[in-house]
Amino acid sequence: MVSLTRISFVTLLYAILMHTAGSRVLELSDRFLDIHKDGQWLVMMYAPWCAHCKRLEPIWSHVAQHLHATSIRVGRVDCTRFTSVASSFKIKGFPTILFLKGDQEYVYHGDRTRDEIVKFALRLSGPPVQEVTKPQSFDTIKRERDLYFLYVGGRSGVLWELYHKTANTFQAHAFFYQSHPSVVNKHAPVENVPALFVYKESSHYNFTGHNLSDIEKMNETLYKWVNAERFPTFPKVTRGNINQLFLTNKNLVLAVVEENQLEEVAPDMLEFKDMVESVIKSKREKYHDHFQFGWIASPDLVNSIAMMVLPLPSLIVINTTTNHHHIPEDETEKLTPYVIELFLEQIRNESAPRFGGNTWLVRSYRTWFELKSTLVSMWKGNPILMTVLVGLPVGFLSLICYGICCPDILDANDEEDENAGASHMKND
Ligand SMILES: *[C@@H]1O[C@H](CO)[C@@H](O)[C@H](O)[C@H]1NC(C)=O
Ligand SMILES: *[C@@H]1O[C@H](CO)[C@@H](O)[C@H](O)[C@H]1NC(C)=O
Ligand SMILES: *[C@@H]1O[C@H](CO)[C@@H](O)[C@H](O)[C@H]1NC(C)=O
Ligand SMILES: *[C@@H]1O[C@H](CO)[C@@H](O)[C@H](O)[C@H]1NC(C)=O
Ligand SMILES: *[C@@H]1O[C@H](CO)[C@@H](O)[C@H](O)[C@H]1NC(C)=O
Repeated sequence: MVSLTRISFVTLLYAILMHTAGSRVLELSDRFLDIHKDGQWLVMMYAPWCAHCKRLEPIWSHVAQHLHATSIRVGRVDCTRFTSVASSFKIKGFPTILFLKGDQEYVYHGDRTRDEIVKFALRLSGPPVQEVTKPQSFDTIKRERDLYFLYVGGRSGVLWELYHKTANTFQAHAFFYQSHPSVVNKHAPVENVPALFVYKESSHYNFTGHNLSDIEKMNETLYKWVNAERFPTFPKVTRGNINQLFLTNKNLVLAVVEENQLEEVAPDMLEFKDMVESVIKSKREKYHDHFQFGWIASPDLVNSIAMMVLPLPSLIVINTTTNHHHIPEDETEKLTPYVIELFLEQIRNESAPRFGGNTWLVRSYRTWFELKSTLVSMWKGNPILMTVLVGLPVGFLSLICYGICCPDILDANDEEDENAGASHMKND
């Protein structure tokens, strides 16, 4: 009897927790406020009416499926029903993705793709720096992580302390490991310990700032190095990561192309993109310190930065400190690696013409440009709807005007009388 009640209780609990059969997403209520500090949670705060939330739903199921074997619990909260949860976590928009670990709370700002969200959760679920104790583990790490930092040496000393602190700051954005020379030596002999590397695109790059005597200076150098190296050499730039790229304070060199619905780039644009990539791949040492390369398939985002409609494909360089941008004078067809290098050289010696910036005048022009683009694209997408949308308010407005004006005309006499009366009174 007891076991039967227990089974039905468990079933009931299961039914409450599980959204639908098959989905591993936990449907949470305001009871979540009592338990959110236990263990690790990846939670989506959503509202049923929000279109972005609907689009995220299938991805969220995949995320939950992917993290099922870990200790991270994946759930979601309908914030329109459980407003106390929304106000407790100070949710300002939907969907908001949170990672919760004890008292710590991280908001996800990246691309809403399965891989990126899963990586975000996995980075935060462990300690800021994960220790690698077995040489074999490197095979898995190399296979699964396209970019990671590795500190070789013991867990003490100035560089270690600074590395640990920096890893803590950037934990949501990159994977940080530590290992001993004896473990790493089987893969790559390290001459001087401690040493610090970043691995990406099957290459590794040294951190060389640790012979500085000044700790403050070393910290600053390390912080800047990690902040600049945490991106791949030629990443895809999106609305989700462009803000992070702006934090590098480098010049952002973007190949602007267009994707179709299946995220495919047309062959001619692909050729252009590969050509731009070849510049950074072949001259990394020369450009790496001042230029972050990338490609972008959201022309509207670039257009709003450039405040003009750029041809496709095209090249744009954005100074992320001042928000100025540079556009080559040559047409896209004439751009070769050599021409691009000359152009970058001019940007370095500040002889290239620059546009835009961040003054209020530029900002208000940008707002106007965005509004105009939105209206134009709405018009192109659905002229009839636009006519109705613009037409209806105009129609209503004229009705209202008519309503306001006409009675005035009819009542004009009365009012005049009253006014006349008032003025008489005054005169008296
Ligand atoms: C890293 O630094 C060490 C010593 O400073 C040097 O021997 C090695 O070649 C460097 N590796 C790379 C990839 O630059
Ligand atoms: C740092 O300095 C020590 C001693 O001065 C030297 O042996 C070592 O190679 C230097 N390391 C780097 C990375 O320059
Ligand atoms: C290191 O530098 C970063 C960024 O400049 C700063 O936020 C942090 O407080 C510094 N840490 C130490 C220990 O000086
Ligand atoms: C951005 O522009 C400013 C002002 O012209 C310049 O000082 C700075 O070096 C530029 N940034 C880069 C990364 O070149
Ligand atoms: C800047 O660099 C370009 C390309 O190398 C060169 O032609 C130009 O003379 C340079 N301008 C200045 C002011 O140094």
